[in-house]
Amino acid sequence: MFRISIIIGLLLAVLLMVLDVILFRGGKQSAIAPPGRNRWIKLLVTLSYLTAGLFFILTAISAFFHRLIFGEAMTGYLMVLHLIVGMVFFTAATAAFIFTANRHVFTFGNRMGADETIRMPEKICFWGIITSALIMSIAIFLCMLKTFDSEIHQVLVNIHRYSGVVLAIMIMFYSYRRLRMTILSSKKSKTV
Ligand code: HEM
Repeated sequence: MFRISIIIGLLLAVLLMVLDVILFRGGKQSAIAPPGRNRWIKLLVTLSYLTAGLFFILTAISAFFHRLIFGEAMTGYLMVLHLIVGMVFFTAATAAFIFTANRHVFTFGNRMGADETIRMPEKICFWGIITSALIMSIAIFLCMLKTFDSEIHQVLVNIHRYSGVVLAIMIMFYSYRRLRMTILSSKKSKTV
């Protein structure tokens, strides 16, 4: 059941990207990036996003690979790797969240000073990523406390697993949208 959910989740992420390309063809959504921010902040933001991205890929591979190929949960060194890269991912994601939360606030028409290159789909994904990351980290830390009986433990593990699939879909779509908007806005700033 969980194996099929991983496959459906990954297919859904790809479908969302294809739909987005079809619906928003030819730069309809492009905008110019806001004027330069402090270059040190810019560097820290880029570093936190790249680290979070890289360690998310390592965490997702450690989590999904074993289940997709062997149909069983990861064990041994793969589990240890999962714990380590998972912690680094959450730390980098927290830094990225602190640095860029203000650029993802919902402005509802009041566009004063808003970053025009960040649109509604990215904002929804951004807060969805934060919410599912919080849910899955709380679930697994409660699990690791070993205070609950096996039934609740299993429920917590399932919450961690399935929010991991939701997190993967949203991180894939968010990354695709940010990349697309950055490319479109750099093209636009060259033509202006
Ligand atoms: C602080 C970071 C993390 C810790 C400490 C952690 C810990 C764990 C532990 C202990 C398990 C095994 C649970 C069990 O079967 O008893 C597990 C499973 C899992 N984790 Fe994480 N995890 C972390 C981050 C992540 C992230 C970021 C993802 C997102 C992809 C993720 C996805 C999964 C999945 C999908 C499973 C289930 C694997 C399976 O049953 O096939 N984890 N995690």
